[in-house]
Order: sequence, then C-alpha cells, then structure tokens
Amino acid sequence: MNGGDNRNMRITVVNGPNLNMLGKRESGFYGTFTLAELEKQIQAHTQGRAEVVFYQSNHEGELITFLQKLGESDRLILNAASLTHTSIGIRDALNATKVPFVEVHISNVYAREEFRQKSYLSDIARGVIAGLGADGYLAAADYFIRNQK
Ligand code: DQA
Repeated sequence: MNGGDNRNMRITVVNGPNLNMLGKRESGFYGTFTLAELEKQIQAHTQGRAEVVFYQSNHEGELITFLQKLGESDRLILNAASLTHTSIGIRDALNATKVPFVEVHISNVYAREEFRQKSYLSDIARGVIAGLGADGYLAAADYFIRNQK
C-alpha cells in the first residue's frame, strides 16, 4: 500500500450473476436502483479517496479468471450473488490470491431461504455486510479507506 496516502488506493467492486438485472429483479429484496446507478453511487462516495474499478459477470469461470488477477495489495468488495452459496472455485481463487475482501449482499440473506444462509466465502472475508442495500458497498469502501492494512 502507499503509507497513509490513500488517494491512490484502488478498490475493486465485483458483482456476480444476475446483479446486472438490478432495477428489474425482485425490488422487495434488491430495491429499484440499477447496477449502473449503484456503481455511480460508489464512485461518487469514494471520489478523491480511492480509485474504484468495477466488474460484473454472470459466469463463474469469468469471475474466477478476473479474481485471479487480483493480489494481496488489492482491496475487493465482492457480491458473488448466488455463487456465494455454491462456489468452491471462487473461494479457491480468493485463497490463492489472498486479496483482502468484504463480502456484501444487498438483501438480508439471513432473513431469506435457508440455502442463502450458507456462504463459502464468509469465513475467509475481512467482514460480511448483508441487508443494507447499496449502503453495504459504501460501508465496505469506507472500511478499506480507513483501514489500509
Ligand atoms: C445477493 C443474495 C444472493 O442470495 C442472491 O443469489 C443474489 C444477490 C444479495 O445481494 O442480496 O443474487 O447476493
């Protein structure tokens, strides 16, 4: 990292399957904002404090290939969506790269179906935020900006 000067800190925000459908899918769980609006909000929130890179894919393999390019000096906000509950491959990629990450869910997965309460990622995450909508991403970004180790 860059020794207290966080202007150049880079945070990568990765969204998994179906999150490109935000604004059109289950608004009771996910609100009415689109992915582009969410990304714009994160961008505005971190303006001047961090450089933010965004990536979304519906494909597990593409997500894994993207995550493999990150390293220990990166900071990752990850909403792996449904793959949170199924993907050993994503877990293995995160363990291989040792990228520090915060797991984010827009909805409160603990108030939903039981299968959403299992995460293959939570125990290797810095922390987990669920149920705060778009604010979860902003809180995760604030965490990384304030805690640079
Ligand atoms: C989600 C919760 C997951 O269970 C679900 O499959 C998603 C989105 C969330 O942000 O609340 O696609 O990760």
